[in-house]
Amino acid sequence: MDSHELPDTEASNNAGHWKHYYQTVKHNPHRPLVGSAAESNLSQSRLAVDCGCGTGSEIAFLLGQGYRVEAFDINPDAIQVCRERFAGNPEVNLHLSSFEDYHYPQAGLVIANSSLFFCNPQSILQVWSDIEKAICPGGVFCGDFLGMKDSWVGGSFPKVAPLSPHQIEKMFESFEILKWVERDEAGHTAGGAEKHWHSFTIVARKS
Ligand SMILES: C[S@@+](CC[C@H](N)C(=O)[O-])C[C@H]1O[C@@H](n2cnc3c(N)ncnc32)[C@H](O)[C@@H]1O
Repeated sequence: MDSHELPDTEASNNAGHWKHYYQTVKHNPHRPLVGSAAESNLSQSRLAVDCGCGTGSEIAFLLGQGYRVEAFDINPDAIQVCRERFAGNPEVNLHLSSFEDYHYPQAGLVIANSSLFFCNPQSILQVWSDIEKAICPGGVFCGDFLGMKDSWVGGSFPKVAPLSPHQIEKMFESFEILKWVERDEAGHTAGGAEKHWHSFTIVARKS
């Protein structure tokens, strides 16, 4: 999950605890993977959706690539940072919303970097179904899922939604997988706390 590591609080599902994380990452550059995902979009749509957009590093990059961006986050602090960052830019629409409640528009690119696994475990497959329907044929998904061996699973993060490789493969049955990177190793959070990472980073194009 490269430089976009996650907050080290044990209560990261609580919106208030993201503040420190946002301060840490708000000047981060975009994730290089998003560049290759943006280039792999073969659909006619130059609309990108950033799910759980945080402080908007990917939004800034995608605007520079000629995309219009719809972005949402459940955390008002994140949306406030983005509102200030993209004030007056008609190519950006920001929404305070959860993965479950967001109305996903048809898009050529859907980004969910280090975010979707904070979805309610009971909802993640429905959320994925909504995302899959929203991606235009030839459009691309880029994002991360959490695996079963991650140290947050079943412990201090009751609301993370881990998935098995088999589940992820099934979710992407109607996609061409362009990148599949499994991370299974000791690592750190953005705040430097030790944790075991088990994640799957996927870039895939819808058939
Ligand atoms: C680790 S940050 C990643 C932010 C951004 N995607 C990035 O890569 O810099 C995860 C983001 O997901 C958001 N998030 C967590 N649960 C969410 C939910 N149920 N619906 C929408 N966003 C959520 C958090 O508020 C946070 O901003």
